[in-house]
Amino acid sequence: MSKDVKDYLHLLDKPLDEFEAPGARNSTLGEDALWHVLYSLGQDNTYLNKRKAYWGLVLAVRDRMLEKWTAVQRKYYANDDKRLYYLSLEFLPGKFLRGNLLALGLENEAHEFLHEHDLSLDEIVDEECEPGLGNGGLGRLASCYMDSMATLGLPAYGYGIRYSYGLFRQEIRNGHQVEQPDNWLHEGSHWLIPRPHNLFPIRFYGTVNEWLDDDGMLRHDWRGGDLVMAMANDMYVPGYRNGHVNSIRLWEARPHKEFVLSSFNAGDYIGSVQEKISDENISMVLYPSDDAPEGKTLRLKQQYFFVAATMRDMVRRFKKLNKPWDQLPEKNVVQLNETHPAIAIPELMRMLLDEELLGWEEAWCICQKLFAYTNHTILPEALETWPVKLIERLLPRHMQIIYEINRRFLEEVRLHFRDEPELPSRVSLISAGPEQRVRMSHLAIVGSFSVNGVSSLHTQILKDRVFHDFIRIFPDRFNNKTNGITPRRWLRQCNVPLSWLLSEHLGCNWITDLTQLKKLRELVDDVEFRHDWEQCRLTNKKRLADYIEKVNGITVNPHSIFDVQVKRFHEYKRQLLNILHIISLYNNIRRNPDVKMQPCTFIFGGKAAPSYQMAKDIIYLINCVARRVNSDPHTRNFLKVIFLANYNVSLAQLLVPATDVSEQISTAGYEASGTGNMKFALNGALTIGTRDGANIEIGERVGDGNIYLFGLCEKEVLALRRRGYDPWEFYKNDSELREVLDMINSDQFTPGDSTAFSSIFNSLLTGGDPFMVLADYRAYVETHKRISHEYVDRDLWIKKSIMNTAGMGYFSSDRAVKEYIDGIWSLEPDV
Ligand code: IMP
Repeated sequence: MSKDVKDYLHLLDKPLDEFEAPGARNSTLGEDALWHVLYSLGQDNTYLNKRKAYWGLVLAVRDRMLEKWTAVQRKYYANDDKRLYYLSLEFLPGKFLRGNLLALGLENEAHEFLHEHDLSLDEIVDEECEPGLGNGGLGRLASCYMDSMATLGLPAYGYGIRYSYGLFRQEIRNGHQVEQPDNWLHEGSHWLIPRPHNLFPIRFYGTVNEWLDDDGMLRHDWRGGDLVMAMANDMYVPGYRNGHVNSIRLWEARPHKEFVLSSFNAGDYIGSVQEKISDENISMVLYPSDDAPEGKTLRLKQQYFFVAATMRDMVRRFKKLNKPWDQLPEKNVVQLNETHPAIAIPELMRMLLDEELLGWEEAWCICQKLFAYTNHTILPEALETWPVKLIERLLPRHMQIIYEINRRFLEEVRLHFRDEPELPSRVSLISAGPEQRVRMSHLAIVGSFSVNGVSSLHTQILKDRVFHDFIRIFPDRFNNKTNGITPRRWLRQCNVPLSWLLSEHLGCNWITDLTQLKKLRELVDDVEFRHDWEQCRLTNKKRLADYIEKVNGITVNPHSIFDVQVKRFHEYKRQLLNILHIISLYNNIRRNPDVKMQPCTFIFGGKAAPSYQMAKDIIYLINCVARRVNSDPHTRNFLKVIFLANYNVSLAQLLVPATDVSEQISTAGYEASGTGNMKFALNGALTIGTRDGANIEIGERVGDGNIYLFGLCEKEVLALRRRGYDPWEFYKNDSELREVLDMINSDQFTPGDSTAFSSIFNSLLTGGDPFMVLADYRAYVETHKRISHEYVDRDLWIKKSIMNTAGMGYFSSDRAVKEYIDGIWSLEPDV
């Protein structure tokens, strides 16, 4: 384990010559990097610093990706491939350099080059800034899928927005979250290639003109309003050592015209520039709310902007093939990642009807064969709707088309369900009420040939509850595709020690066939193997401890249990349950100073939406408890509480391999799948979790004895709510819990201020505890006691840890993408 990284890389991965095109290059990566420092960056390359080395390397790597990408694109045309368009308002790729070097087999060359210049890859990667073009799970899933699509050699494109500002950077000041802008492009990014020639005008507002064509058909023409230009920026996604490179096209808003001449001539210089600035605003910033749609006009503009440009791009490529329109769905498939891009359905209808002059039936038939929709949430407040009035104003033609889709759909429903007069209003695309709204999920369901959930339980809930009416109308349309994660980033890249151990014992094929990990089950009784396993974990924990020391200034014991909950802050994810338990532990240790207890380090990370006050209060509570616990001489050898600021993909890569206990404790029935849960278990952490989302499937695969499931299941949550849930009962009957809650409702953690957390106390009691934190409290505490007890039995724990990794092969995004290929996309890999 003490060898230099570069000495053992060859053990880890597939050799280069399996995929590299012969004679592709006769210069080394280092030579090309130096060339770029001089000729692309315009800087002196006779000496290098970290910045120059980083950007030089980026450009040299990019050259190699571009060569492969171009060859791959030509192949798509030559083979007349069917193409996948994956539309997502969010992507969270994480840092690029290490992953791209790994995929392209260039890690050794990079190490050698940097070594020659007294630099290391680690310090270079520290320089890299991470694009935060997403909020959390949904965006990260999109990036995992892009990685798998490239690795499987699929003719696929990601499409999204090139936000100038990604998700805010989180700072913690005096325990509170403070949001700072994330200007990730402040020095540009050579990972993105701007393509000024891929430019489309996108219209907003305006009016719809009706006219009769020569055959007497009523035609429509949308004109006037504002035009904004959508300009392409491509980001490249190399497959793992297969010579395949795909791209994610991110649209950037550009002004349609430089200045409004009339106001410019009138001397209103600032006014005319202002207009240009407001056009660019569309792609300026990512909306920072997770699981809660932003009902703002700009958000709808963003959705239409990227979708309209993407549909244009797809149609542009299709037209090159000179095929009839009915072959559009034979040659393309569009996957909608949530309803954010669902406006693509009326947009394509508009293009086919108004620009290509197809008839309604023909156009609708094409759309229904082309689109597929993935649902990611069942939180009622997160199901997206838009006011009819807003759509009417912003996209007048689309509102007409939505009305017509709805009219025809409801006519069919009335015809087939004559004795259910209530059904049409329940499934209508437009909700009744004082303010009519378009239900985007209904639009997506009606306009797609496939609707999928992202874990077994989630899909079942969609069928049983959320979209129950639609199951009867479209019985074949619904299916499940349990989420997955890419083993390249979430094991090979983030956990080099364990990857090495795995490749030594299993060979390196696990990197592209994660089911190979099941062979680890044969090694659990091998004492030496278990010892090596534990050493790998300890190495990772020490690395994390160093980071915590450096960033938070707190020393943590790497032999303590690292218990981690990192994810967005949301009441349903129940970070509160976690901190309530920590407070009770704290009380117990103070009461029994001689307690024999395994030291524990509780680590939190995650951002709260800036407008979500309760989530921010919970962050503040955690930080206040941390301050008290970490400074208490009675407890600090047993208990540490750490909040790591600005949780992002890079921080996840540091945390995941160092975690002993993974907290996945959402109220059952609320988390659609989760993918964090998969990352931790894959790296050998044991999960404490509710029977929610993919936790259930993880349990089935790692085995009951190797996961700590607790608390109410989804049906019990519903039943308790129906019976009438009274959190006061739990308060009255559990003295330990009562003590904890009373502390929160006092100035114990905020001396002199006894109301700092009254919002939390009230929500849990008078507010009815909507996420049933108190109902699950006792089961959670008892399960933690078991964990603490079992952790001490190192043989037992390490066996369980190995069994977790061994059971996680199913959760590879390669498997998930293959299921999408077979069940939805009908695509052929082109490798
Ligand atoms: P696009 O598909 O038009 O976006 O072009 C992407 C890349 O595909 C181009 O840079 C070419 O390398 C390749 N390409 C574009 N059009 C054709 C074609 O008609 N035949 C073969 N290759 C093409």
